[in-house]
Amino acid sequence: MSLLEIENLSVSLPTPKGMLELISNVSFSMEAGARLGIVGESGCGKSLTALAMMGLLPDKAAARGAIRLNGENLLELDEKMMRSIRGNRIAMIFQEPMSALNPVKTIGSQISEGLKIHLGLNKTDAENKTKKLLDSVGLPLNRFPLNLHPHQLSGGQRQRVLIAIAVACEPDILIADEPTTALDVTVQEIILELINEITENSGMGLIMISHDLGVIAQTTEKVLVMYAGNAVESGSTEDVFQHMAHPYTHGLFAAMPKSGTRNYEARQRLYSIPGQVPEAHARPKGCNFAGRCFKATAECAVEEPVLKPLNGKHKVSCFHPLTEGNPQ
Ligand SMILES: Nc1ncnc2c1ncn2[C@@H]1O[C@H](COP(=O)(O)OP(=O)(O)O)[C@@H](O)[C@H]1O
Ligand SMILES: [Mg+2]
Repeated sequence: MSLLEIENLSVSLPTPKGMLELISNVSFSMEAGARLGIVGESGCGKSLTALAMMGLLPDKAAARGAIRLNGENLLELDEKMMRSIRGNRIAMIFQEPMSALNPVKTIGSQISEGLKIHLGLNKTDAENKTKKLLDSVGLPLNRFPLNLHPHQLSGGQRQRVLIAIAVACEPDILIADEPTTALDVTVQEIILELINEITENSGMGLIMISHDLGVIAQTTEKVLVMYAGNAVESGSTEDVFQHMAHPYTHGLFAAMPKSGTRNYEARQRLYSIPGQVPEAHARPKGCNFAGRCFKATAECAVEEPVLKPLNGKHKVSCFHPLTEGNPQ
């Protein structure tokens, strides 16, 4: 049994266009201490997948399938039980460091809160552990006292505080949802390295969510590519990078800034996948990507491809994959 098993997860939400299925039949698993990436353009369902794992879907959401943590289906737990798991066994770093922190509370009290609730630490022990945590995320006490408020910190420093909060109770799984997207380019690398270092040193599992394949390559060993609420390619990060099979993955790769292209003009010339992710109410029959795909044929607009093995553990949902595999 894997530490985490997601089986046919589907999530529907009320929208102005009615109840819509925004995530459809997503499955993946993860061993203890493993490093998994979820990649896809904005609007593909990455954050909703993470929120489902955290039990933080909006009230009226309907989730089907299973999210098993050590065999226990989190979708069947009530909010009280979920609260003992959230922050304690699965924790998450959110995309927006400012809105994820409480502006009127000190950083010290925000970090020690979880330590008191989940680990039952008293005030002194929680404070001592908080100091150690701040130090471990690169905010030493002599410059960053516990009574600072979020507005006194830079974006990168706030993200460090959020990392400290997320890892405080040593969860089995840390979900990092676009942890560097809101930060300056110069700080992005440092924060990614910090996340890598902390999870590797503690043996914590990592789910790294990003629209950027470069971030995924740097932080993960397995990857799931999502498009319009579906998993379209998965496998080891190495296999997917070296033998990318889905034209969508290929498009994400082509759109990735290569090292050395930091300047604006070079970025301007970057490839971008034509068209847009179809919204849930406007998803076409057949393959969701067909309308944007250079490999699409008439068949793609009729039948919906399913995720199936291409080569060993490398899977793809495409009728015309870019690599020939040996289905097993
Ligand atoms: N609370 C919500 N109510 C209605 N639709 C939502 C809500 N949250 C997300 N969505 C929609 O679900 C889809 C997936 O969103 P999301 O998981 O945030 O994508 P990603 O994280 O990959 O950018 C999008 O089309 C988005 O508009
Ligand atoms: Mg998101």
